[in-house]
Amino acid sequence: MRQKDTIILGIESSCDDTSAAVSFNTRILSNVIAGQKVHQDYGGVVPELASRVHQQNIIPVVDTAIKKAGISKKDIDAVAFTRGPGLMGSLLVGTSFAKAFALSMDIPLIEVNHMVGHVLAHFIDDENKGKPDFPFLCLTVSGGHTQIVLVEDYLKLKVIGSTIDDAAGEAFDKSAKLLGFPYPGGPLIDKFAKEGNPFAFSFAKPNIGSYDYSFSGLKTSILYFLQKQQEINPSFIETHLNDLCASIQQSIIEILLKKITKAATDFKINQIAIAGGVSANSGLRNAIMDLGTQKNWKIFIPKFEYCTDNAAMIAITGKFMYDRGLHADQNVTALPRMPF
Ligand code: KG4
Ligand code: ZN
Repeated sequence: MRQKDTIILGIESSCDDTSAAVSFNTRILSNVIAGQKVHQDYGGVVPELASRVHQQNIIPVVDTAIKKAGISKKDIDAVAFTRGPGLMGSLLVGTSFAKAFALSMDIPLIEVNHMVGHVLAHFIDDENKGKPDFPFLCLTVSGGHTQIVLVEDYLKLKVIGSTIDDAAGEAFDKSAKLLGFPYPGGPLIDKFAKEGNPFAFSFAKPNIGSYDYSFSGLKTSILYFLQKQQEINPSFIETHLNDLCASIQQSIIEILLKKITKAATDFKINQIAIAGGVSANSGLRNAIMDLGTQKNWKIFIPKFEYCTDNAAMIAITGKFMYDRGLHADQNVTALPRMPF
């Protein structure tokens, strides 16, 4: 039986992006994202500042998303919001807004797990990209998480590996900080790496079992290497910036691809997807495409705007939950450490 047409308003506020999106079935009608520049000088997101900016942004962002979608508030069938994981103060803004919106419009409320949202972004309609079949593996790499997820169905996802310390995005951002870049430095490493030699320098790679990741050794190795080189040549970083970025990026990519290769082999799965902010990295996108050609895998890479935090992925996840009658009630609260 064909599902009825559904319009969902998605709300995302787990970290430092305030976003609202409107979906019509699995098509996105609008996806509005307001970033926060206030954290740039601090080397990371300052939770208290983030929640204050979310409060300022949430209403104009939702209003713009509804207008851009060309719908009216009354057309919305349900509101889906990120319940967690994320920063408590940030999550509270989106959660409170979504609850109030659902209550005032008398429509269902749907609580979405942010990490599930990143994975299900692959099911947003996109004429340039096919959708994966089940089962597939998704390497979900963001500022807070690094996971290998076995996806058996839309809402049947199992984490088979995760980081035991830093996330891949943190590895990018902390390395970038050592190079003197503002937060978030990941995209800047990506930019400078394009002009550099990825094999100019090599750094320590972790050696841990199973499908888990570790990035703390890499970070320490970069720190000691830079300290040593700067004692010899105080302008070492400026002189070798491109090569340093390319080599750091290469090390992170090698670490990421080693475990996904192991998982694909062990689980005999040849459909591999990437998701999360770090999947916007051009080096990772190229490397996984090359690996896919080599291994005969089908590779799925989201559109840039659906890699970093966005509400389109929350709306789409909300749509799959809505179809299954998975509604939350008005007692629901934000859950910073929400399990998968
Ligand atoms: O998924 P996301 O937007 O937010 C979280 O849920 O954490 O991911 C943000 C992370 C940051 O660490 C940022 O530096 C990283 O994604 N990132 C990148 C790139 N774009 C975003 N890292 C490397 N290269 C990029 N192009
Ligand atoms: Zn995210």
